[in-house]
Parts: sequence; structure tokens; C-alpha cells
Amino acid sequence: MPTKTKKTINRADLNKKPKGKLGVLIPGMGGAVSTTFIAGLEAINKGIGKPIGSLTQMGTIRIGKRTEKKSPLIKDFIPLAKTTDIVFAGWDIFPENCYDASLKAGVLKKETLDQIKTSLQKIKPLKAVFSQDYVKNLDGKHVKKGKNKMDLAEKLIKDIEKFKKDNKIERIVMLWCGSTEIFIRPTRVHETITSFEKGLRENHKDIAPSMIYAYAAIKCGAAYGNGAPNLSVDVPALIDLAEQNNVPIAGKDFKTGQTLMKTILAPGLKSRMIGLNGWFSTNILGNRDGEVLDDPHSFKTKEESKLSVLEHIFQPELNPDLYSDYYHKVRINYYPPRGDEKEAWDNIDIFGWLNYPMQIKINFLCRDSILAAPIVLDLVLFLDLAQRAGMSGIQEWLSFYFKSPMVGEGLYPEHDLFIQQMKLKNTLRYLKDEDLITHLGLDYYGFE
Ligand SMILES: NC(=O)c1ccc[n+]([C@@H]2O[C@H](COP(=O)([O-])OP(=O)(O)OC[C@H]3O[C@@H](n4cnc5c(N)ncnc54)[C@H](O)[C@@H]3O)[C@@H](O)[C@H]2O)c1
Repeated sequence: MPTKTKKTINRADLNKKPKGKLGVLIPGMGGAVSTTFIAGLEAINKGIGKPIGSLTQMGTIRIGKRTEKKSPLIKDFIPLAKTTDIVFAGWDIFPENCYDASLKAGVLKKETLDQIKTSLQKIKPLKAVFSQDYVKNLDGKHVKKGKNKMDLAEKLIKDIEKFKKDNKIERIVMLWCGSTEIFIRPTRVHETITSFEKGLRENHKDIAPSMIYAYAAIKCGAAYGNGAPNLSVDVPALIDLAEQNNVPIAGKDFKTGQTLMKTILAPGLKSRMIGLNGWFSTNILGNRDGEVLDDPHSFKTKEESKLSVLEHIFQPELNPDLYSDYYHKVRINYYPPRGDEKEAWDNIDIFGWLNYPMQIKINFLCRDSILAAPIVLDLVLFLDLAQRAGMSGIQEWLSFYFKSPMVGEGLYPEHDLFIQQMKLKNTLRYLKDEDLITHLGLDYYGFE
């Protein structure tokens, strides 16, 4: 079990509306997820659309007993930053402004984008910290130069400080929406803050750009979330640095599309003790993310993230008759004509009473970035909340949003979407000092 020093929640600050502007920093600002989020939020703030999919904007939370009929909106229950108080900055290896990048991403329609064109054109990415060694299928020229990785981290820190000063920003959250980097295992350089900083100065190959951004964010006291499957902040050195600097962190890999469906369906099958022989998942997608994932090194990072989900939900060690021998395969196929409009197929071979076989087929025609944008918004607002509440380190209660949730040492990640949701809502109740909801309910029937 992890041994942690005692922490206390700063509840005083949670009874007041947050003041001032919230700076949102996005590495990968020109990508499909980021532009759909930024343009979407501009549109929502102008009343052009609704924040469908966002728990912070549309979700409610039950307080007290069912008979009390108290289910306020989450954003009325706990003070969150207003979406109109958000100011954006970010980095990308391509210099296009947010309007041009949104058009290129091809997710939101031109008619929508044209209504917010002027504000989007003002949002331009800064030069990125990037190396093709970590994302083989991308090449861009809008990139910072530096003597070594520490020098590049210092340049990012300068960018952040300037952004804060120029825009009179009160608090900042950084969210990685950059491409999936190659698969890297944690090594000695990631073990301690000292070894990591030495590695930065010596240009260690196991320090990827996303780790340099995470380091810069934490050094600046900014909360950091990771929307991609690459390690980024999920290494001991950066977790320790986050604790030391009182910064909340969360990751990895936004849970959208096929994996979202998996973590909705698998807990249902398991809860009814339905067995599994195999789960074959395949996708076609044609956006830039698909192109990056066409490289086996980046795909390996994504594959690890997608594969881990079922094992943790089905717990074969506890249910050997049902789940000890299933075959699980995930394929992602780059298919340019499809753009961001991904199509996913799942074939699930299950078995029931006396081992009789059955099949489930899912054909999900989803829009990845449409599902990801509300997650980005929620993570920004909840990470800001965690920061205001003095919750440093890994925010496991935000597992709800991730395919590979970060957890403390010695803990296994919780993948079941419904347990994740209960954890999230109970954390909000806990922050506001309300009773947690166990769903026991025997007291309604006369039991003490
Ligand atoms: N629903 C989803 O779309 C979804 C779900 C889960 C995870 N993700 C992950 O989120 C990330 C973004 O997805 P996307 O569809 O927007 O991809 P995208 O390719 O459209 O955007 C990624 C952007 O990151 C930029 N970039 C790459 N390396 C960078 C660096 N070092 N610094 C700054 N910018 C950099 C690229 O130029 C690109 O503009 C990917 O890692 C993807 O795997 C997306």
C-alpha cells in the first residue's frame, strides 16, 4: 500500500466562486481534439450550441436521501470556473491559427466556425518542443531550438510566465492534447527529480517532449492532465515533483469511442456473471491521429492503453470460470477518406448458462473529437477545482475520463465506468462535506 503524508482539503476556498481568469495551456493546440474543444467552447459561450457530453455543465448530483429530492447541477453544487473566464494558449508544430486549424481538422462545420472566426483567428500556437524521434509520422517547422532538454523546458516556463502576466491569469491548467508518442518504459532517469533533471540537461533519450511540457507546467504550479497514452507525467520523478509543488495531475488517454463502449458494456456482462471467449475490436479512422498511430511505435503506446481495460474489469483471477481464457485484440487502421468520422466494430463472443455461446456485435459510427471535447472541458474545470482544494498529486477520482487511469503506487486502476462515476461524485460530495451516497437504501424500509 502506498504510504502518503497526511493532506487536508482546503474547503474554505470551495465555498466561494473562483475569481479571475483561468489559463488553459494546450500542447497540440492545432489538433482535432484541441480545436474542437476551443472552437466548441467559443460557440457555447456565444450561445451557438450546447455543451453536450460535459458533466460539469450538464450533470446533476444527488445530495442527501432520495426523499429530499435535492439534485442540483454539479456546477451549482460546487463552485467551478466559468467557461467565459477561460483564456487559451498552447503550442503546436504547425503555426496555423485556431480557425484555420479547425477547418483543417474537419470536425466542426465551416458555418459554425465562421460565426466565431474573429476570436479563433486570434488564437495562435507558440513554437513547440518537438522531435520526430518520438512521433515518427509527423514533421513540422514551428519548433523551438535549445541547447538541451532543460533549456527547452526553461523556454516553455518563460512562455507560461509571459502568458500569465500578459493576460492577468490567476490559475493555470495544462492539458496534453498532442500526438501519441512512441512507447517508452519508465527507466532510471524517471525515478527521482534529481535523475530527471540530470536527464534533461544531458538530453536523455527516454525523456519525451510530453515529459518536458509536464515538467514545465509543474514547475510553474500548473495542474497537468494527459489526454494521450504516452507516459508523460506518469513517472515517479514527475509525480514527486507534483507533490512537492502542490500540483494536481491526471492521465492517461481520453476515454472516448470504442473504449468508452467497452467500459460501459463489460461491467454489465460481469455483473451478470456472463462469460467471455473473445473480444475483437477494429477501427478505421483518417485524421492526423490515425496517421500518427499508423506508425507501429506510436500504436504500441495506444495498444497498451486500450488492452488493459478488460483485464481490470473482468478480474480473471477472481472469476476463472468466466474470464481466464479470453482472446482480446485491438486494431486501428488508418483510412484517410474517413477523416475524423471514425467507424468501429466490435465482435464479442460471450457464453452463458451451461457454457452456451452467444455473440454481440457493435458498429459505432462515432466522432472522436466530438466525444473528446467535453472531456477536455471537464478535466480543465475539475483539475482547477482540485488545485483550489489543495489536492496535490494523482487525482484518481478523475479516472472516469481516462482509458489508462493513473493510480498511486500499489493500486490497480479502476476501469468500470460506473464505479468511476460514483468515485467522482462522492469526491465532490466529500469536498463539500456532504454525506457520501452508498446506495444501500435499507433505511427507507425501516432498518436502522
Ligand atoms: N477522441 C479522441 O480523439 C482521442 C481519444 C483519446 C486520446 N486521444 C489522444 O489525444 C491526442 C490528440 O488527438 P487528436 O485527434 O487531436 O490528434 P491530432 O493529430 O489532430 O492533434 C495532435 C496535435 O499535436 C501536435 N503535436 C504533436 N507533437 C507535439 C508537440 N511535441 N508539441 C506540440 N504539439 C504537438 C500535432 O501537430 C497535432 O496538431 C492524441 O494523442 C490522441 O491519441 C484522442
